[in-house]
Amino acid sequence: MDTETEFGVPIPGRILPEAEWAKTGVKRLPLSGTLDWAAIFGRVAPVVLELGCGNGRYTLLSALARPEVDHFATDILPVVIRYATRRANQRGLHNVRFAVRDGESFMGAYVAAGSVSEVHLYHPQPYHDPKQAHLRLVTPRFLADVHRSLAPGGLFVVQTDNPDYWDYMTRVLPVFFDFHEQAADWPDAPEGRSRREVLARSRGLKIFKGFGHALTGLGRAEAIALAQVLPPPTFRSRGPWCDLDAIERQGG
Ligand SMILES: C[S@@+](CC[C@H](N)C(=O)[O-])C[C@H]1O[C@@H](n2cnc3c(N)ncnc32)[C@H](O)[C@@H]1O
Repeated sequence: MDTETEFGVPIPGRILPEAEWAKTGVKRLPLSGTLDWAAIFGRVAPVVLELGCGNGRYTLLSALARPEVDHFATDILPVVIRYATRRANQRGLHNVRFAVRDGESFMGAYVAAGSVSEVHLYHPQPYHDPKQAHLRLVTPRFLADVHRSLAPGGLFVVQTDNPDYWDYMTRVLPVFFDFHEQAADWPDAPEGRSRREVLARSRGLKIFKGFGHALTGLGRAEAIALAQVLPPPTFRSRGPWCDLDAIERQGG
């Protein structure tokens, strides 16, 4: 069978016969209260979150490779979630759910403390226009909420092709995580994890990637207090300016 592609980027997995499809879309999140992962997935398993998932390429890859792990991914843009959901459905991925939601309110309102094993953030929107800088997802408060959500030993993975965003992240991430910059190539490079990574590589852009486990001994009150005094992401984004930013807004 031909591989499904989107803007030349292969979509992982293959479309199954319709009888084997899954239902991975979460149409409505509850008005209040944290999500009960066991009730959502019908089993107790480690939970991996992806925020700003775009077309869901990383979540599809990870869910196919790790059927024993449950995956919940969100994006603010309904069109990309529509495509991601359809593809996960067609691949019979019962260990995946997609929902339309912004990353900060999702982490702040819906994810119980210590309830997830990994949080992944690939190429958060840099919002080049200074008037939109307040929309940037990686803020000290967001990081405090990611820290809170992780079970002991839990992992945060982040990457970007924006040098200014990376510079900001490398200053604030170590406050909450034992943060390591991934210096060399990683196992799924140069193929790439997310659509943005694949496209950025094809344009010769440098990918900045790092990971860290939630610091132990950092209590919630202290994390919130630190978040209040750390600098907000008001950096000036100098690029890279390229056609990719327009592509991000389409589901494919
Ligand atoms: C540059 S794209 C990267 C998409 C995907 N992670 C990838 O690497 O291919 C940024 C994505 O973040 C989404 N986004 C922007 N602001 C967001 C927010 N506050 N919360 C969640 N998603 C957001 C956009 O809709 C877009 O899909």
